[in-house]
Formats: sequence, C-alpha cells, structure tokens
Amino acid sequence: MKEYHIHTFGAEKETAAALAALIADRLKANVKQSVPLNMAVSGGNTPKMLFELLAEKYTDKIPWKFLRLFWVDERCVPPTHKDSNFGMTYTSLLEHVDLPSDNLFRIQGENNPDTEVIRYADVLKNELPQENGFPVFDLMLLGIGNDGHTASIFPSDLSLFESDKTTALVPHPETGQLRITLTGKTICNAKEIAFFVTGAEKANILSEIIAQGQASKKYPASYVSDSSGVATFYLDGKAAGNIPNK
Ligand code: 6PG
Repeated sequence: MKEYHIHTFGAEKETAAALAALIADRLKANVKQSVPLNMAVSGGNTPKMLFELLAEKYTDKIPWKFLRLFWVDERCVPPTHKDSNFGMTYTSLLEHVDLPSDNLFRIQGENNPDTEVIRYADVLKNELPQENGFPVFDLMLLGIGNDGHTASIFPSDLSLFESDKTTALVPHPETGQLRITLTGKTICNAKEIAFFVTGAEKANILSEIIAQGQASKKYPASYVSDSSGVATFYLDGKAAGNIPNK
C-alpha cells in the first residue's frame, strides 16, 4: 500500500492557494541551504489556475531564481501552439515572474519527436542529481486525467512504469497526438509528489485510486508515489466528493 496524504479544500482556488504556499515554502527552505529547487510541472487545465495565482500573488514572494523548472510531459507541438504545456506555463506564469531563462528546461515540442525524447533524457541526466539510475526531482506537480492517466502515461501504457528509460514518446490514445513524457521510474524517483486534482468529474476515479483496490490497477496514477512511497493529494471538495472520511 502507498502512503497517501490527502488535503481537501472547499473551492479549487483554495486548493491552488495551498499548492502555491507549498511551492513557496519548499523554495524558501532550499534558499536557506543555498540550493536550487528542481521542480517538474504538468500541463492541462488544472495547473493553469495555480500558475495564474503564483503570477498574481507571488511575484515578489518567491526567490524565483532558485527555481529550476522542468516539464513532466509535453505535446509534440511548437511552444506557441494552443496545446503546448510550456506555452500555457509561459503565458500564465513565466512571462510574469523573474525566472531566468537558464532555469527553464522545456521539452522542445517543435523538434523531431524521436530525437527530442532522447535529448530531454540527456538534459535530465546532465541537469539533475541521479539516484537509482534516474534523475531526482525535488518536487513534482502531477494531474490526473478522467481516464486515470498522469503525465502522459495512459491506461494502455502501464508498461512505462517498468521502463528503464527516463523519457518516452507516446501517442494520445484518442487523438494520436504525440507526446513526450517522463516514465514511471523517473516520476517515482522524485523526493516529493503533489497531485493537484479538482472537479466532480474526477471524483469517482480519485476515490478508486485512493482506495487502492482492484479497480485502481487500471489507472496509471495508482502506480505513482515518491521515492519514500508517499503521494500527496491537493483536492477541491468536488474531486474529493466520493472519498470516505476525506
Ligand atoms: C497533460 C498533463 C496531463 C494532465 C491531466 C489532467 O499534458 O495534459 O500532463 O497529465 O495532468 O490530463 O489534466 P487537467 O488538469 O486538464 O484535468
């Protein structure tokens, strides 16, 4: 059994505020040790609210130059494309805060996917501490899709939790859109993992994942915990609606 820590808030904005405070707290702790915080973020809609909050209220509350930002996954499109995770992060956060460009390690979705999946694995090898043969992130922000996917590991790709590669190239199961994603062992090598999940449409799948029963085995998010076997969930009331004693 994994050790799940569940933080439930009323509205999604309160959940985002709690996560913003977590990021600020971790960054300030690292500043005290004069070491950067290596953080990987996901894409999709949920993180956008968090990024906008950070841009609105944390521009001068976070020592941004101590943050080194990586991506959990990226769609194989240019950064200006509407589907780009980097593009979403840039417009909602990065163009509003003083984060040096040298601290940004984006997956270059505009590149040839077959070469970019290798290039990014090399970036992770060169830019991050390594443990167990995999890069180590200090903090990883993950979402959960309506099918239980996380990063770009979909239910048909559970083998990516056995891969000895750091990154993988996968097609979206419905659209076929190519994506580059961290693999399961890279994700689970992180020191700390925070799932950010909101909305009633996630309530059923979330309750199955957190129950860790047979039903959860088809969901990639169920295979995720950090290097100490812990995963923390930051939920709004709607997403937590079916979790007993939440
Ligand atoms: C992506 C994300 C993906 C996301 C989930 C949840 O590239 O889409 O990395 O794993 O976290 O699909 O997305 P929402 O936050 O939009 O529900």
